[in-house]
Amino acid sequence: MNAPSKPADPGALLDAGRREHFTDAGYYAHAYRARTDDIAYYVQVAREHGEALLEYGVGDGRIAIPLAQAGHRVTGIDLSAPMLDALRRKLKAETREVRERVTLRAGDMTEVALRKQFNLIICPFNTFLHLYDRASAEAFLARVRRHLAPGGRFVFDVSVPAPEDLARDPGRAYKVPPFRHPTAGCVVKYEEYFAYEHVSQILYVDFVFTSRDDPSRKWKTRLAQRMYFPQELEALLHYNGFAVMGIEGDFSGGPLTGASDTMIWHVERRVKTGNGARDE
Ligand SMILES: C[S@@+](CC[C@H](N)C(=O)[O-])C[C@H]1O[C@@H](n2cnc3c(N)ncnc32)[C@H](O)[C@@H]1O
Repeated sequence: MNAPSKPADPGALLDAGRREHFTDAGYYAHAYRARTDDIAYYVQVAREHGEALLEYGVGDGRIAIPLAQAGHRVTGIDLSAPMLDALRRKLKAETREVRERVTLRAGDMTEVALRKQFNLIICPFNTFLHLYDRASAEAFLARVRRHLAPGGRFVFDVSVPAPEDLARDPGRAYKVPPFRHPTAGCVVKYEEYFAYEHVSQILYVDFVFTSRDDPSRKWKTRLAQRMYFPQELEALLHYNGFAVMGIEGDFSGGPLTGASDTMIWHVERRVKTGNGARDE
């Protein structure tokens, strides 16, 4: 398998990169089953900031369902029908009280307009990295401003771009031991390929699966993420009307340092005018 191939239309590659990784919700749940620190973190954030909250990129409810179980009313927005279907299936196993606390809306996070404001808006686990250019990031931040109640908080977490990760050889396969694929129903060999375009700051990842018993059964899914550097993100937030209340470097509340691989941003709508920034 060679490096990620690029179709002639870069827009098509980005569209695949925002959708393909989220078409197989069974695989998504399996791949991220050990990721639990962020769930406890967002439950705590909700305890502090909002009985009712809005989650952008709600996905299969990995975080939304525990939030609803903890008593919060969650409105979730997502682009992926398979992820939302998986969430609805999971909700069927919940009590009526939990089910009734969750409201879902299919759509693009840069576009969906709700006639409601929230004290807390969250956008967990790299969903923000699907905003591939300034126009889409600004459209999304305008939606957040519109949906955030006065004094409300917006919290999101994204990977910290690490120079060594961005410099990976696109032709090199990063392999993990074979495992039983939860939806393909066979044992697969699994490889990842990373290609970073440093002008657009897009990291393309190809996930390649090959049946161990039938190598002719081979498939690939793509993921595209825009890398946002910390200072760039701070400027984007500032000039789109947000004040940074805090940045953490892990889900235990540790500081953002050179060793952090995650950055968790806590921001609020900025009300004072300054520096030509977009204020309320
Ligand atoms: C990494 S998943 C996070 C899902 C869930 N919040 C979690 O933590 O497991 C990113 C989600 O963002 C959604 N997404 C990507 N681009 C989107 C967009 N433009 N509008 C709405 N949802 C989007 C994907 O469909 C996917 O469900």
